Amino acid sequence: MPDIEQINDQISIERQGDIALICINNPPVNASGQIVRQGLQDAVTRLNAENTARVIAIYAAGRTFVAGADITEFGKPPQPPALPDVFNVMEASTIPLISVIHGTALGGGLELGLATHARVGIEGLRVGLPEINLGLLPGAGGTQRLPRLTGIPFALDMCLSGRQVGAKEALENGIIDLLVSGDPRDVALTAAQQVLDGTLPTRRTSEVETQPDDNALAETAAMLKAKQPHMFSPHKIVEAIAASTGPLADGLKVERQAFIDSMNTPQRAGMIHAFFGERAVSNIPEAKGPAREIAKIGVIGGGTMGSGIATSCLLAGIPVRLIEVAQDGLDRGIATVTKNLDGAVSRGKLSPEKRDATLAMLTPSLVMDDLADVDLVIEAVFENMDVKKDIFGKLNTICKPGAILASNTSYLDVNEIAAATTRAQDVIGLHFFSPAHVMRLLEIVVADKTAPDVVASGFALAKRLKKVGVRAGVCDGFIGNRILAHYSKTASYLVLDGATPQQVDAALEGFGFAMGPHKVGDLAGLDIGWMTRKRKAETRDPNERYAGDVADRICEHGWFGRKTGQGYYIYNAGAPIPNPEVANIIDAVRAEKGITPRTFTDQDIIDRYMTAMICEAARVVEDGTARRPVDVDMVFLFGYGFPRHRGGPLHYADTIGAAELLTRIKTYAVEDANYWQAPALLEKMAADGTTFADLNKGA
Ligand code: 3HC
Repeated sequence: MPDIEQINDQISIERQGDIALICINNPPVNASGQIVRQGLQDAVTRLNAENTARVIAIYAAGRTFVAGADITEFGKPPQPPALPDVFNVMEASTIPLISVIHGTALGGGLELGLATHARVGIEGLRVGLPEINLGLLPGAGGTQRLPRLTGIPFALDMCLSGRQVGAKEALENGIIDLLVSGDPRDVALTAAQQVLDGTLPTRRTSEVETQPDDNALAETAAMLKAKQPHMFSPHKIVEAIAASTGPLADGLKVERQAFIDSMNTPQRAGMIHAFFGERAVSNIPEAKGPAREIAKIGVIGGGTMGSGIATSCLLAGIPVRLIEVAQDGLDRGIATVTKNLDGAVSRGKLSPEKRDATLAMLTPSLVMDDLADVDLVIEAVFENMDVKKDIFGKLNTICKPGAILASNTSYLDVNEIAAATTRAQDVIGLHFFSPAHVMRLLEIVVADKTAPDVVASGFALAKRLKKVGVRAGVCDGFIGNRILAHYSKTASYLVLDGATPQQVDAALEGFGFAMGPHKVGDLAGLDIGWMTRKRKAETRDPNERYAGDVADRICEHGWFGRKTGQGYYIYNAGAPIPNPEVANIIDAVRAEKGITPRTFTDQDIIDRYMTAMICEAARVVEDGTARRPVDVDMVFLFGYGFPRHRGGPLHYADTIGAAELLTRIKTYAVEDANYWQAPALLEKMAADGTTFADLNKGA
C-alpha cells in the first residue's frame, strides 16, 4: 500500500523512499483555490521540515494540470495564502522540487511550474498565460520567471497574446526541460528518480538572469499605446516584464501591484463575466438533454453564408453535401469553400496535410433529392419566405424521418417555415454569423413545436463547431438583429441631428468597438439595410422618426460601401477617407427636414447609442426571446464585435444602473417620445434595486 497522507481535501503527499510526490486533486481543472494553495504550502513546508525526502515531484490528478487561479474567487476578499507567497515557499525549498505538467498549465498553473526547479512535460500539453483575456496579467511570478527562461520577446508574446503554446514549442523555448509520455504519477516517479540519479538537472528560476531587451520592450509599449490605448492590463504586462531584469523580489513587487490595480478595474469584471458567460449560455437544461446523432450535413445555398457554414462543418470533420440550383452557383460555392479552407491553413486552423482530405468531405450536388441521407439540413438561401417555404416543403418529402431541418434565416418567422412541413418538431433556426467559419456565435432559434432533442442537437452542433450556441425565441431578428435594428437608428439620428458619421464611428471605437457603425455598414454592404427598410416600409410605425434618409440616398447613387469602392467612406489604397458627397447628402436632408445641426460630445454619442441598445436588450429579456441577460451579452460579444472588456450590453448596463438609464431615457424622450420608451423591466429594476446580474443568478 502506498504511504499517502492527505494534507487536505485537495492535496496529498505520497512517500516512496527518497521520493515524495505531491498530488493536486481539485476537479474539473485543478484550479488553485484557497484549499489547493494552503495544501501546497503546507505540504512543501512539512516535507522540508521532515527533511527525509531527497526530491519532491508535484503532479495533478484528472484530465489536466492546474488551469490557473480559481477565477470564482476574483472580486471577493482574498483568502490567504496568496499564490505568489506559496510559489516563493516552493522555490525556496531546499529539497529539489520538480513539476510534471499534463493537459493544460494555464496562468497560475504555469506559474506553479515556473516556481519549481525543473519541469517535465507530458506529450500533448499546452501552456499559456491567458490572464490578459481576463483583464489581468500573470500575478504569481509569470512576468518575472517566464522571461528568465524564454527571454523577453517570447514572454511578451505569450503574456500579450494569451495564446497556448504546444509541447514542442514549450521545450524549444526552455519552458519545460523534458518532454515524455505517460501517466502523470508514473512520470513524476521516474523524473524524481532522474533527479536523484543526476540525469535531470534542477535549478531555481530566480537564479537565472533575464537577458535585457530594451528595444523589444520599447517597441511593444509603443505598439500598445497606438493600438490599445483604452486597455489597462496590456500596458501593465510590459511594465512588469521590464522589471524582470532586476532581482526577483523587486520584480515580484512590481507585478503584484500591477495585478492588484488590474483586478480593481471594470475591464477585469467585464472580461470575467465574458469567461463565465461563454460557458453559462449552454448551461441550461434544454442544451443537456439527449441529442440526435449528426454524422452528415446538407447545406442548401452556395453563397457566402452557405459556403461559410459548409466550411465550418468540414473543419469540424463533418461531411457536407452542398446543394445549389445551377452549376455556376455550385462552382462558386465550391470555390468559396476551397478559399475558406486555404485561409484556415494559412491561419494555422487546419494543417496543410489535412486540407485535401477535408475538402474531399464536400460533395456538391444540383439535386435536392441527394439530401435523403443527411441527418441535418441547413438552408442558407436568400431571405424570402416563399422561397424558404417551398424548400422546406420539398425537404419534408425528401429527408429521412428524424432528420433535422434548419433554417439559417436571420429574422424570418421559423414557426411559419415549420408550418410548410408536416414535421414541425424537426424544424429549428440555426442562425450563423458571417463569415460563418470564423464568427463564433450561433443563435439556436427554438420555434413553438421544435422537439427538445432537436434543441439539444443544436447546442451539441455548436460545441462541435467550436461555436457559442445561444438559445433565442422566435421574433423578427431574434436576439441580435432585433436589438441591432433598434439601436442602429440612434447612429442615424445622431448624424441627422448634428454629428458626422466619422465622429459617431470614432466615439464608438473609443468605447471599444473594433469598428464604428458606419464602417460596419460599408463593410457589410449598405444595400442590405436598404432592402430591409424597403421590406419594412409598409409596416413601419407611422409615428416613428425615419432613420434611413441619408443611407437611402447613398444607396440611390449605387454606393453600397466597400464592395462598390464608396459608401460613408471612400476606399482606395490606404486608410478609408470620409466621402465628401455624404456630407452634402446630410446637409441636404437636414435642410429639407428643417433640422438645425447641434453639437454632440463623444460621451453623448456613446450614452445614446448604448442606452438604445440596452432598452431593446431589456425588452428581449423581458419577453423571453433571450432566457437571461447573459445570453444577450454573449450574442453581442461573439456576433457583433461588442468590446469584451465591457462584458456585453447588459453587464455594462449594471455599471450605469437602472435609475440613471431611466433618467437618460426621460431626457431623450423630450425629443422623440416614440423612440425613447422605458422598458418595464428597467422601471421594475430601478424600483426594487435588482440588477441584470441578479436576473442571471435567478434564471
Ligand atoms: N477557475 C475556476 N473555474 C474554472 C477555471 C478557473 N481557472 N477554469 C475553468 N473553470 C471551470 C469552468 O468555468 C467550467 O465550469 P462549469 O463546468 O461549471 O461551466 C469547468 O471549469 C470546466 O471548464 P471548461 O468547460 O472551460 O473545460 P475545457 O476542458 O473546455 O477547458 C481549460 C479547460 C482550457 C482549462 C479552460 O477552462 C480555461 O481556459 N480555463 C481558464 C484558464 C485561465 O484563464 N487561467 C488563468 C486564470 S487567472 C490566474 O491564474 C491568475 C494568476 O496569474 C494569479
